[in-house]
Amino acid sequence: MQIGPYEIASPFVLAPMAGVTDAPFRQLCRRYGAGMTTSEMTTADTRLWQTAKSRRRLDLDLDAEPVAVQIAGAEPEALAAAARACVDRGAQIIDINMGCPAKKVCRKLAGSALLKNERLVADILDAVVAAVAVPVTLKIRTGWDPEHRNGTRIARIAEESGVQALAVHGRTRACRYKGSAEYETIAQIKDAVGIPVIANGDITTPEKSLEVLRLTNADGLMIGRGAQGRPWIFADLVNYANGNTRNAPLEKDELRAIMLGHLEEMHRFYGESTGVRVARKHLTWYCKHLVNAGEFRYQVVRVDSATEQRRLTEEYFDRSDGGISEAA
Ligand SMILES: Cc1cc2nc3c(=O)[nH]c(=O)nc-3n(C[C@H](O)[C@H](O)[C@H](O)COP(=O)(O)O)c2cc1C
Repeated sequence: MQIGPYEIASPFVLAPMAGVTDAPFRQLCRRYGAGMTTSEMTTADTRLWQTAKSRRRLDLDLDAEPVAVQIAGAEPEALAAAARACVDRGAQIIDINMGCPAKKVCRKLAGSALLKNERLVADILDAVVAAVAVPVTLKIRTGWDPEHRNGTRIARIAEESGVQALAVHGRTRACRYKGSAEYETIAQIKDAVGIPVIANGDITTPEKSLEVLRLTNADGLMIGRGAQGRPWIFADLVNYANGNTRNAPLEKDELRAIMLGHLEEMHRFYGESTGVRVARKHLTWYCKHLVNAGEFRYQVVRVDSATEQRRLTEEYFDRSDGGISEAA
């Protein structure tokens, strides 16, 4: 898949997920073969960029090329200014979020609420594409609600504006995360435009990834929740797409190194207090894919220090019945 000057080595990319796909997690997914990762959504209101949260979201140093940054907002000029500021900080791709159904975002008429207003979509995309020399990409849902599936029209508007790739979550805004993703709508969108289309929604296994590629004819696949606690899923997907049999579950030593390395990075990136809190959710996700992890999970999300989190993780892996990964 080609996005502007960037050849994306693997068609499997990590979905932007606020509160999940921070720099340490993105780096881990890249190591396991994610073709591209995108920063967590950042507000286009640059006045808010001084908060610790925004500063961390815009900490792009750890990312491998292309460095893709996602912004959300509803005012063309604000988004254009934010895009320019992101490029000044090293962004190589600007991704615009028109897919987020969160009330906080939609009330400000950003995220997926924008899909209702096609004129504004065009104004935003025109303004951002004109503002930066790097490729602009767009993430959408299939429409506002099942009666207003205007994803195809939005895709055409995007292509006309000069957007260079489109990620489509196969649900409408009203569907939030309910039901199963509508891959046939993604297929229609793919059919309607010439720019690369990346299909997204409910892809959690190698078998499903090939099925979605077949159903949508998409150029790439975007993986969100399927990567939580399982950053190595990208290696499984790449391997299976290359015609090999499914990867064996990870060896205990590799799993241990992933989890302890990830803990260390979170503690370093956020500092101990926030790092320990952020690590709790990642540890919980890891535990979903580990056998005999109930007691370990119960304890490790209750301790307050980096040392204790590390110690409990090491102890769990030292057990003869611990540290065993379930097959994906
Ligand atoms: C916790 C969480 C945070 C998310 N944050 C963002 C975000 O910041 N920007 C965005 O475009 N989508 C966001 N999404 C949507 C995902 O990128 C993706 O479209 C959605 O999860 C469907 O893909 P999946 O079934 O592979 O998880 C988020 C999803 C989750 C679960």
